[in-house]
Amino acid sequence: MDKSKVRIFRKANGKIVIEGPVRLTDEKGNELPHGDTFSLCGCGKSKRMPYCDGSHKEQI
Ligand code: FES
Repeated sequence: MDKSKVRIFRKANGKIVIEGPVRLTDEKGNELPHGDTFSLCGCGKSKRMPYCDGSHKEQI
């Protein structure tokens, strides 16, 4: 994988995986910490928004 390129994809379980050099901020422009690869919540159930915390696995 070319680490200089950004790759973003959505998994079937809802999480959005981000790989590569990106700058993630809140709506005010404050930097949000993350690793080289991280996942954003796409299901709306995370208790650690905007990150995926695995809550998409919970049964309703
Ligand atoms: S996608 Fe994982 S908690 Fe929402």
